Amino acid sequence: MFNFKRKMKAENLDKIPKHIGIIMDGNGRWAKKRFQPRVMGHKAGMDALQDVTIQASELGVKVLTVYAFSTENWSRPEDEVAFIMNLPVEFFDKYVPKLHENNVRILTMGDNSRLPEATLEALKKAVEKTKHNSGLILNFALNYGGRAELVRAISLISQDVLDAKINPDDITEDLVSDYLLTNQLPYLYRDPDLVIRTSGELRLSNFLPWQTAYSELYFTDVLWPDFNKSGLRSAISEYNNRHRRFGGV
Ligand code: FPP
Repeated sequence: MFNFKRKMKAENLDKIPKHIGIIMDGNGRWAKKRFQPRVMGHKAGMDALQDVTIQASELGVKVLTVYAFSTENWSRPEDEVAFIMNLPVEFFDKYVPKLHENNVRILTMGDNSRLPEATLEALKKAVEKTKHNSGLILNFALNYGGRAELVRAISLISQDVLDAKINPDDITEDLVSDYLLTNQLPYLYRDPDLVIRTSGELRLSNFLPWQTAYSELYFTDVLWPDFNKSGLRSAISEYNNRHRRFGGV
């Protein structure tokens, strides 16, 4: 007898990426499919984020950097921007307690100067409350843009050269990494091993351009609010089937 059943590929979680970056895309389309306002997609996206963070933490991931708002997102309708800016406030009340129980530490990176006071306050509270946690770091890229991050680093390095704190000869890849916003992460985990983008878009959209030089990229058609624990495990399983060579053979 022939067995026509397709063999399911076994899940392979042998190697756990230490740092995963996620571009949480597709919230608007998720809501539209349900005839709901776009912002409902962002709300549902926070549930997905909590589930995925806890699963990542259970699997031994050390850092999860999530693209929550890019410097380009200000061009969205004013009410949607206002809603997204209020998400950290809601996030603090509803989600931080459970993440805190799971020993998750919250960090943020991006240009804070344009964030509303209440948003900043909520972020500060979440960072402060979880600062002694030793588990997974959930790093929010909020009002983050990769090119702006590089411009900032170049400007700071130039200033330090002018002030004779460093010589142009001292400028190495390691030094540049020290001037990036990811410098607050543990040294070994600054660069993502794996980047996941949901919703079928095949680009990085100014997300960590320096840090993703050698990252494995995983794209899925699943819309972010539908992404869940098993989606994360599939991405990690696929990562295990890749052979990272870092330019070698
Ligand atoms: C992209 O989907 C998603 C965003 C711009 C916002 C993502 C934010 C969250 C999931 C919540 C983050 C939580 C905190 C605390 C900040 P989209 O709107 O571009 O979807 P579309 O491409 O379908 O329109």
